[in-house]
Amino acid sequence: MASERLLVIDDVASLREFLGIFFRREGYDVKTAASGEEGLEIFERWRPDLVITDLQMPGINGLELLRKVKEWAAKDGVDVPVLLITAHSTISTAVDAMREGAFDYIPKPFLNEELRITVGKALSMRRLAADNARMRAELGERYQLGQLVGNSAAMQQVYTLVRRVMGTRINCLIIGESGTGKELVARAVHYGSERSAGPFIAVNCGAIPENLFESELFGYRKGAFTGATRDKQGMFAAAHNGTLFLDEIGEMPLSMQVKVLRALAERKIAVVGDTNETPVDVRVVAATNRNLEQEVKEGRFREDLYWRLNVVQIDLPPLRDRREDIPALSMHVLERIAKEYGKKVHGFTPETMALLKNYRYPGNVRELQNIVERAVALESGPLVTPSSLPERVQGEVSVAAHGEVEEEFQVEGIDLEARLRAVERRYLEQALVATEGNKTQAAKLLGITFRSLRYRLKAFDMDGGE
Ligand SMILES: Nc1ncnc2c1ncn2[C@@H]1O[C@H](COP(=O)(O)OP(=O)(O)OP(=O)(O)O)[C@@H](O)[C@H]1O
Ligand SMILES: [Mg+2]
Repeated sequence: MASERLLVIDDVASLREFLGIFFRREGYDVKTAASGEEGLEIFERWRPDLVITDLQMPGINGLELLRKVKEWAAKDGVDVPVLLITAHSTISTAVDAMREGAFDYIPKPFLNEELRITVGKALSMRRLAADNARMRAELGERYQLGQLVGNSAAMQQVYTLVRRVMGTRINCLIIGESGTGKELVARAVHYGSERSAGPFIAVNCGAIPENLFESELFGYRKGAFTGATRDKQGMFAAAHNGTLFLDEIGEMPLSMQVKVLRALAERKIAVVGDTNETPVDVRVVAATNRNLEQEVKEGRFREDLYWRLNVVQIDLPPLRDRREDIPALSMHVLERIAKEYGKKVHGFTPETMALLKNYRYPGNVRELQNIVERAVALESGPLVTPSSLPERVQGEVSVAAHGEVEEEFQVEGIDLEARLRAVERRYLEQALVATEGNKTQAAKLLGITFRSLRYRLKAFDMDGGE
């Protein structure tokens, strides 16, 4: 351990030099200053662990110095104990200084033993405080992993699982609706692991045409087929010593599933056009928004591959099932956007937050992110107000109040008109969400004319005043 750093400030040269020699012999790293000014200057750039200062000095005296040190230390987050050396005549000032946060005072003339013990005590208190600060930071960090934000029980379970797989090369399967953060979790798994120095390679299985799959994943040798004019490295080889993220794994054709299974089981890949297999060390993280178990039952996904990928399953619940994460996520986005745009927006009005917490988020965190980004960009005041939210969010309260429409017929009778209106409203909103507010497309989705849509939106006061 590096020696602890002591700053000694005294305008009397003999005392200053004595203290320097004394504490160096005790094993501390010591710097000395002949005035309060010089002391502050050294403090600022050296950040000692403890300050010993004379109380009475010309210029900046011990008390002023104490205040300044406390102020800076508070900013750093870890306290720096200050010991005062005082003549008999200034003991009452020293007592005042204790009230202002001095650790202790030592009256002159002092005994070396007393000095040694007091400094030791002050430093062990400081170590304790530093440990606490570190623990708090770690505790805070437990709820925030990588770029992931959110304290809900569901997210904490996600963090626990991520931590569990982080130090291993266990394959995992992340399941969640679109926009729930599957890729972010995959990155957290990678960047938290020993593989973080290696590459993170993401493959969107839904975006590769079936006939190109094999060469994309495994690569080919020059001359393997017409057009193979040079070697091409596949994604598996590119992810060597790192993580291969197979996104939308449910879209992988069955023919490829066999080959991927083999590569995982044998840790070797068959490069197209190569007779020898190449060993690879890859951890696979797969993600899907489909129900893979169902896909297995229906014969669209190989069961053996499913089990090989699904050693650990991480479920990301939809945002509407963990609404307690909404404030933290919203604030996270607000701070980022406010900084990016140089805007002085620093929060949300209570009504705005209530609306944000109420909305259904079919697009999950991605949709929340878009909503808050737009709101912050639009906002002119210091707080985001409801009028900066998209109309679908502003209009959500009544839907939430209606909740799911019950189909069950009740003996006391139902209000058919009200129920039908609620259903209609829900469909209108969903169509607008799905088309990001494009009314022409929304009308098509609903199988009605544009005019009819406009009429209905107006009836529900959902036309945004156009
Ligand atoms: N817990 C979270 N904390 C902070 N940001 C999040 C969180 N979850 C998701 N996001 C953000 O939301 C957006 C969508 O996340 P991501 O791309 O990981 O979702 P996905 O599940 O992979 O979506 P898709 O299925 O559509 O590919 C990203 O911009 C991501 O940064
Ligand atoms: Mg994704």
